[in-house]
Amino acid sequence: MNIFFPKEPEFETRVSLTLESAKKFLDKGLNITIEKSYAEHLGSSDKEFEDLGVKTLNRDAGFASAEIVCTVRNLSEDELDKINQNTLLVSFLDPFNEKSLVKKIKEKNISAISMELVPRITRAQKMDALSSQANLAGYSAVIIASQELQKALPMMMTAAGTISPSKVFVIGVGVAGLQAIATAKRLGAKVEAFDTRPVVEEQVKSLGARFVKIDVGETGETEQGYAKELTPEQIEMQREGMKKVCASSDVVITTAQVFGRPAPTLVTSEMVSAMSQGSVIIDMAVGTGGNVEGSVPNETIDFNGVKIVGNTNLPGELPFHSSQVYSSNIFNLIDEFWNEDEKQLNIDVYDEILSICLISHEKEYINKTIKEIMN
Ligand code: NAI
Repeated sequence: MNIFFPKEPEFETRVSLTLESAKKFLDKGLNITIEKSYAEHLGSSDKEFEDLGVKTLNRDAGFASAEIVCTVRNLSEDELDKINQNTLLVSFLDPFNEKSLVKKIKEKNISAISMELVPRITRAQKMDALSSQANLAGYSAVIIASQELQKALPMMMTAAGTISPSKVFVIGVGVAGLQAIATAKRLGAKVEAFDTRPVVEEQVKSLGARFVKIDVGETGETEQGYAKELTPEQIEMQREGMKKVCASSDVVITTAQVFGRPAPTLVTSEMVSAMSQGSVIIDMAVGTGGNVEGSVPNETIDFNGVKIVGNTNLPGELPFHSSQVYSSNIFNLIDEFWNEDEKQLNIDVYDEILSICLISHEKEYINKTIKEIMN
């Protein structure tokens, strides 16, 4: 079984194969090929990969030789033509936004696993790339905020006087939000947080942060633990409840997402205007529509003296570690379905993991939601 790892586009710093996981694949008896100068920007040379037994090829030859292709970012539609039928493509496919690509994958009889659809069940935790990346994104958000802020985060009592701690408000306490809270606490900030899922309150408190109580009426979560979308009236109640907290915060980090839907706009321009000059907002949802009015993907804008950071690839700020955990997720996924005796993958479309993260197989859409939106 040949797995090919092509280089990522210019803007992506992460990779899906590290030296460590290459060794694990090779130990299992899989053949690994990388595109030339695959991870040189991360300090891993082709020679180091080759010394382990990895082959290097140019991109087109790599596609032609592959039975599995793994990436962080989507391939272009044109490149799908270079992949053989029945090849398994593993990637962050962004299937809800990339319908034309998904259609072509099915038509070309390519099997495809969408890493963002790996279910949140115990058996799949080791393959959960959304979590592994969100965790580092949450950390990165706080580090960037601390650099953009003109203040220190911790309280300091010095002979020259006392510096009061900066206030950080985290909106949305999933994987990224929890790590943002933990990081800001470690750096000594005074941290507050809010989420529409009530179960989060205990988690926030256990990290030593204050949970901001806002009554928005009935909320809920899906079987997978994702938040349900609020009504426009509930969003308005939430904004009202957050107004004062935002105004008194030095840093606001927004991570609120509703799976498969655009992110809700929670921080309005009016709320930004009420913040002090020099405050910083990190809109972690900017790539899916944004939680903050006026945030711009991949730009830091100045709104009346408040910086709004719209970085869409926060895990990519820490490419060494985000690649380490992503490549580990990919290895664990392939390993889970690898049949050692027959030296092939067991693709069982009824498996509790594959039935959800498999977008297409043998010219059929597999994931139920994808089937519904594509048919
Ligand atoms: P996400 O990225 O989809 O959303 C981030 C957070 O935003 C969530 O906590 C969500 O409740 C919150 N949110 C949505 N609308 C909001 C609003 N209007 N205001 C404030 N907050 C809002 O979530 P993520 O990080 O992917 O995690 C989703 C859930 O999955 C969490 O419960 C997490 O603990 C759970 N999970 C379970 C795993 C498992 O294996 N069992 C693994 C990883 C996560």
